[in-house]
Amino acid sequence: MLSKINFTQTQAYEYLIDHFVEMTEIDLKELFKKDEDRFKKFSVLFNDIFLDYSKNRIDDQTMALLMQLAKECDLGNAINAMFNGEKINETEDRAVLHTALRNRSNAPVLFEGKDVMPDVNEVLDKMKKFSEAIISGSWKGYTGKSITTVVNVGIGGSDLGPVMVTEALKAYKNHLTLHFVSNVDGTHIAETLKKVDPETTLFLIASKTFTTQETMTNALSARDWFLKSGAKDADVAKHFAALSTNAEGVSKFGIDTNNMFGFWDWVGGRYSLWSAIGLPIALSIGFENFEELLTGAHEMDNHFKDTEFEHNIPVILALLGIWYNNFFEAETEAILPYDQYMHRFAAYFQQGDMESNGKHVDRNGETVLYQTGPVIWGEPGTNGQHAFYQLIHQGTKLIPCDFIAPAQSHNPLGEHHKMLLSNFFAQTEALMNGKTEEEVVAELKGKTPEEISKIAPFKVFEGNRPTNSIMVKKITPKVLGSLIAMYEHKIFVQGVIWNIYSFDQWGVELGKQLAGKILPELTADDQITAHDSSTNGLINLYKEWR
Ligand code: F6P
Repeated sequence: MLSKINFTQTQAYEYLIDHFVEMTEIDLKELFKKDEDRFKKFSVLFNDIFLDYSKNRIDDQTMALLMQLAKECDLGNAINAMFNGEKINETEDRAVLHTALRNRSNAPVLFEGKDVMPDVNEVLDKMKKFSEAIISGSWKGYTGKSITTVVNVGIGGSDLGPVMVTEALKAYKNHLTLHFVSNVDGTHIAETLKKVDPETTLFLIASKTFTTQETMTNALSARDWFLKSGAKDADVAKHFAALSTNAEGVSKFGIDTNNMFGFWDWVGGRYSLWSAIGLPIALSIGFENFEELLTGAHEMDNHFKDTEFEHNIPVILALLGIWYNNFFEAETEAILPYDQYMHRFAAYFQQGDMESNGKHVDRNGETVLYQTGPVIWGEPGTNGQHAFYQLIHQGTKLIPCDFIAPAQSHNPLGEHHKMLLSNFFAQTEALMNGKTEEEVVAELKGKTPEEISKIAPFKVFEGNRPTNSIMVKKITPKVLGSLIAMYEHKIFVQGVIWNIYSFDQWGVELGKQLAGKILPELTADDQITAHDSSTNGLINLYKEWR
C-alpha cells in the first residue's frame, strides 16, 4: 500500500519553502557562471537517452532537498509496491502492473500469489502469430484476399497510445495501411469507411471494458457497414478482432473469442499500449519491433526501480515538475519534440498525465490544499516556435518545457536536420539567457536615442526560463519505449508525492452518466425542462434546429 503522507508537512518541504525564496533571486545564467561543472552535474546518460536538466532554476541544495522530499514521502516503498503487484490503485481495488507487460526478463511477477508472466507471454505469443499472419498475407478475408488495411476502433488509452507510437515509428512501417477511429462523431467512422475495402480490411475493436459508448457505437457501425457490403455473419470472424479484458462483452458483440486478445484489470487504460491494445503497433511495424518497444520500456523500468534517486531520470523529472508546480506556481508544462514523427507525443501524455494526476482529493480522502497535476500541452518543433513560443519567451507565465530531439534523423535530407537541431539548441539557450536591455540597445545601434528607447522594452527577453533537454540518439522502437516509460514513471512519482491516487479516473464518469440521461431526451418530441435553464435551452434549440 502507498503511505498517506502530506508532503507539505514534511521537513524537506519546510526547508524548500525558505530555499525557494532564495532561488527566486538567482538567475540561471549566474548559476552557470558560478559552476563550471553544472552541465556534468545536472545531466544523466541512460543508454541512448541523455537528459540535461542543468537549465533549471536549481542548485545543489535544491536537488538535495527535493531528494529528501521524495524520501520523506516514502517513494522507495511506493516503487516497490507498484512493481510487486500490490493493489496501489485502492479506489478501484486494483494492482498497477503495466511493467509486467514489458518484463522481458520474464522473472515472476506475483499478483495475488500467482505469477502473471505465463498469461502475459501467452497473449504476446498470440499477438505474434496473428500479426505475422496478417502481415505475410496468409490470413485471408472473406473473399480470399489478404488484409491490406487495419482500422483500430477505440478511444482514450485504447487509441492514443497506438496512434502516438505508430506515428512516432512510421519509419519502421510495413505495407499495411492503418486508420484509427475514436470519436463518436459519425464523421470519424464515415470518413474512414470511405477509404477502406471490406474485403481487405481488419477491424480491431479496442476497449478494456468493452462497454465504452464511443467504441461500441463505432464498432456496431463498422459491422453494419461490413455486413451491408455483402459479407455474412460468419465472415465477421475473418475481419473483426477484439482487444479487451471483457470476454463476455466481446462474444455478445459477435466477435469470436478466438479473435480476442486479452489483458487484465491491473492494466490501466492509459498504460495499456504494452498489452493487447498494442496489437495495431505490432501490425504496423512488425512484432519484433513491438518487442523492441517493450524492451526499451523494460530497461527504463529497471533504471527506475534500481537507481538511487539522485541519478534516477523519472525521479529527477518528477521532482523538477514539483519544484515548478508547487513552489513557482507554474500551471502548465510543455512537451516539445523536435521530431515530426512524434507529433502526437504531447497529446498522448495529456491523457497520461492529466487523467492520472488531475485529482484534488488526497489518499486520506481529504481535499488537497496544494496544486496537483499540471496542464500538459505541446506541439512538435519548429511549428510551435511560430505559434505559441512567443508566450513562453515573453509572456507573464512560467512554463517549464521539455525539449526532446533525436541526434539522427530517419530522413537525413540536405541540411534539414541540422537546421532543426540548431533550433532545438537555440531555444533552450534563448529561454535561459534572454536578451538584456544593453544587448538590445547595442543591436539597435544606428537608430536615434528616441527610437531606441521607444522600441527597446519590447525587445528585451527576461530569460531565466527553465527547460529540460532530452536528446536521444535516434527514435528507434527501443528508445521510444524507454521515453514513454520515463514519463509514465515521472507521473507515478508525482502522484506518490502529491498523495493522490494516480491510477483511477472517476472524473470522467459524471459527463458519461449525464450524457446517458440526455440521449433519450434528444429523441423525445416534448420540450425538455428537467435541467437548468441553460441546458434545457440548448437541448430545445437543438431539437428545433435538427
Ligand atoms: O477516459 C476514460 C477511460 O476510462 C480511459 O481511462 C480509457 O483509456 C478510455 O476511457 C477507454 O476505455 P476502454 O478501453 O474501456 O474503452
